[in-house]
Amino acid sequence: MSVIALTDVVKRYQTGHETVEALKHVDFRAERGEMVTITGPSGSGKSTLLNMIGLLDTPTEGHIRLDGRDVTDFTEDELTEERRSEIGFVFQDFHLLPMLTATENVELPTMWDTSVDRHDRAVDLLHRVGLGDRLDHRPDQLSGGQRQRVAIARALINEPDILLADEPTGNLDQDTGRTILEELTRLKEDENIAIVSVTHDEQMVGYADRVVRLIDGEIQ
Ligand SMILES: Nc1ncnc2c1ncn2[C@@H]1O[C@H](COP(=O)(O)OP(=O)(O)OP(=O)(O)O)[C@@H](O)[C@H]1O
Ligand SMILES: [Mg+2]
Repeated sequence: MSVIALTDVVKRYQTGHETVEALKHVDFRAERGEMVTITGPSGSGKSTLLNMIGLLDTPTEGHIRLDGRDVTDFTEDELTEERRSEIGFVFQDFHLLPMLTATENVELPTMWDTSVDRHDRAVDLLHRVGLGDRLDHRPDQLSGGQRQRVAIARALINEPDILLADEPTGNLDQDTGRTILEELTRLKEDENIAIVSVTHDEQMVGYADRVVRLIDGEIQ
């Protein structure tokens, strides 16, 4: 069963009298252990599609299933809970808190819940992304590639089924980007998660198990 499945999804944005159809009857699915990369020209609907997959926005038409459960009509609170437990996010500019150590940044998504202690998993994840000797460093004491590794560890802290990455290599040089892609490939297999990324980076396309090309809101 697909971990995430979008069926016949349409997304329309209304601004004044103008309607933009950003997604036109899109079908999309991703499986565990698979890296799917979404590419396409600027304005083709990539971010809109990633926002639907990440349950950050709702479709105008169509259905979204997470692990076989139809979440299309979930309330905002229910979607927030699904996002928290099932989906990890990685961004181009890392989004780390500057005053926290690497370990604290990784633990951050679990801080609100005092019933779980994720400290050990945070340390374990940091070891696994090669930062076992950087646990107490703050972001400004880390390189760009190391910061992105902290962000990846943070995205995995709640054991999600899906990792969503928006241009994860966008701010990295080619060599550092390659090590991040190798890291993602390994974690995808170890954690048995689906990774869905948006990228302009041709190198990243080379690491994908499957490439989805969007043009003008349609999958080619
Ligand atoms: N909130 C919004 N309100 C109105 N129109 C929007 C909104 N968000 C996106 N759009 C429009 O929807 C279309 C798809 O936008 P989207 O951001 O998904 O493109 P993209 O492929 O991510 O582009 P880029 O590569 O530049 O990031 C564009 O025509 C855009 O102008
Ligand atoms: Mg975009």
